[in-house]
Amino acid sequence: MIVLGIESSCDETAAAILDSGGVIRSNIIASQIADHEIYGGVVPEIASRKHLTNIVPVVDRALETAGVGLEGIEGIAVTQGPGLIGALFVGLSYAKALAAHRGIPFVGVDHLEGHLMSPLLEDREIRYPFVGLVVSGGHTSIYLVRGFGDYEVLGRTLDDAAGEAFDKVAKHLGLGYPGGVVIDRLAQRGDPTAIPFPRAWMGKTLDFSFSGIKTAVRTHVERQGVTEETLPDLCASFQEAIVDVLVTKTLRAAQREGVGQITLAGGVAANSRLRRRLEEAASQAGMRVSFPSPILCTDNAAMIAHVGQYRLEGGRHDPLSLPAYSRDRR
Ligand code: KG4
Ligand code: ZN
Repeated sequence: MIVLGIESSCDETAAAILDSGGVIRSNIIASQIADHEIYGGVVPEIASRKHLTNIVPVVDRALETAGVGLEGIEGIAVTQGPGLIGALFVGLSYAKALAAHRGIPFVGVDHLEGHLMSPLLEDREIRYPFVGLVVSGGHTSIYLVRGFGDYEVLGRTLDDAAGEAFDKVAKHLGLGYPGGVVIDRLAQRGDPTAIPFPRAWMGKTLDFSFSGIKTAVRTHVERQGVTEETLPDLCASFQEAIVDVLVTKTLRAAQREGVGQITLAGGVAANSRLRRRLEEAASQAGMRVSFPSPILCTDNAAMIAHVGQYRLEGGRHDPLSLPAYSRDRR
């Protein structure tokens, strides 16, 4: 089934065309970073308005790049939540209108399920069950995935998400928004052992807490200051503290569940240090690890089309009255 995917939950307006068999024919992303960065974060009202102006050209480009006309689309998948409610409405309303006009089925997709299953888009060797770590700007959770739609949360953050910690620390250091990619780049020139920031292990639990590390960085900067020379060490040490906890707990989850396959997804999965450390740890433990290309880690519509295609091919349709939801359902 040829599926059009639409994603508008936060500050990216995205559309993708997935061919039958899950082949990505196009994956278009219009980022709004330039519209929000002067405010140091996403402004919901601006995001909604930008989605409104972007949605038609972005879908048009996805069709054009894929070489498919509207008449070639057999189903539509759209992010239903969680996210900014006004932003979600734009994608959802557009998807409904298009589906009604064309007389084709549409389904709402959970944004986190999109991230969680995104590694399967590129890696056909992944077998169930697997342990999936989803690390984004809004979420940090470890799942046991037994199959499509069969997920168990093994652990989650009790406060900030990992990406949120990256963004807040970057903002505090005056590095701009979003901060993860800037810290990742600066950290490559720094020493990860320079500053021993605390790791929130919290005993044997698979839950996370990232608000303490954020405060530790702030206190360190207040006491010792930061210069252009010390900034890379600070970034590398902060990043290492986050990566240490993510890698250790994910491995522990896989060991506890007796699972030999680990996946990594979400915006923070684009982090070069996290990718390398997880790969090393998994290989030492004799486990297989898989993560998407960076463009499929951050928000995109291919991951939404992917989950949607599975549902649509299984015969699921959603009604035109389908609501959006802003809060996490998992
Ligand atoms: O998945 P995503 O695009 O949006 C949400 O669903 O939240 O994730 C965005 C998050 C932001 O916090 C951003 O700073 C972080 O992913 N991020 C990174 C990197 N690239 C994006 N964090 C660390 N290192 C990166 N290279
Ligand atoms: Zn996301």
